[in-house]
Amino acid sequence: ISKIGVLTSGGDAPGMNPCIRAVVRTALYNGLEVVGIRQGYKGLIDNDMYEMNKRSVSNILNLGGTILKTARCLPFKTDEGMEIAYQNAKERGIDALVVIGGDGTFTGALRFSRKYPDIAVMGVPGTIDNDLCGSTYTLGFDTATNTVIEAIDKIRDTADAHDRLFFIEVMGRDSGAIALRAGISCGAEAILLPERTTAIDDLIQNLKEGHMNKKSSSIVIVAEGDKNGVWDVAKAVQQEVKNYDIKVTILGHLQRGGSPSSFDRILGSRLGFAAVNALIAGESQKMVGLQANQILMTDLEQALNHHEFKLEDDLLQMMDILSI
Ligand code: F6P
Repeated sequence: ISKIGVLTSGGDAPGMNPCIRAVVRTALYNGLEVVGIRQGYKGLIDNDMYEMNKRSVSNILNLGGTILKTARCLPFKTDEGMEIAYQNAKERGIDALVVIGGDGTFTGALRFSRKYPDIAVMGVPGTIDNDLCGSTYTLGFDTATNTVIEAIDKIRDTADAHDRLFFIEVMGRDSGAIALRAGISCGAEAILLPERTTAIDDLIQNLKEGHMNKKSSSIVIVAEGDKNGVWDVAKAVQQEVKNYDIKVTILGHLQRGGSPSSFDRILGSRLGFAAVNALIAGESQKMVGLQANQILMTDLEQALNHHEFKLEDDLLQMMDILSI
């Protein structure tokens, strides 16, 4: 390979910038050229790309978001869109791509590289949702969880002052990873996850018991992907426990912003470095990921296998036990 295109796609995640920096500098170190593609696959289709040099990635380690910008690109899902993207890449001399993103990004990457195998593709797991197989952690998950914990700690102060019950929705389209970690870290009374059905009657019973046990405040965390939905759960509980003052908070997009944590800066650097080295070694259609503190590769197809993605059993077991 001689020229790598790098893009970030889907929801941004803190740690993407350190990863872009590592991709650019590792590629340059190895005598390769690098093209930055703006707004993910959209930039490939719109031909919105630029040559990157050492200084293109100066002073970005501490920045949230992504200097390359990102988008969710519908035209890339069509054959016509892909063909335009391919032609633009070829005209630029791009023979390898590093794609940083989540499941949507990898689905696009896999289709693209099966259709046009002369452009090698390497995925880097970048999503706050932490829902890819083949990497214990995805970029942005650690920072986002810390942001959520900080926010919930603050809510706990006011919940306690008013003896209130808060339902807090956290991100995770199909994943309860943030909810579970944040719930255990903040001592939530209950955590509602897409991976596990919670009977509302049981929840109500638990909250009533907590009240009888003189809990002055209660926090219930509801993952965005939970099938009940935060508003319906809050309403159902309010009907049953009239003596509670109930509030709902949706943390929303603040969870995606902020300076990347030390963990995400290192992870981004390791994964970017590994992605370029894997491409140089002739690999394609793979994702680099962290497993037992080793950087290992997984087939993109396997990385997308949600059935094999699991939340940690011990965390699931302790979530009820520790919140009594
Ligand atoms: O995939 C990351 C994520 O933040 C999900 O948790 C959330 O459901 C989704 O992106 C929101 O996407 P958007 O910013 O496009 O509304």
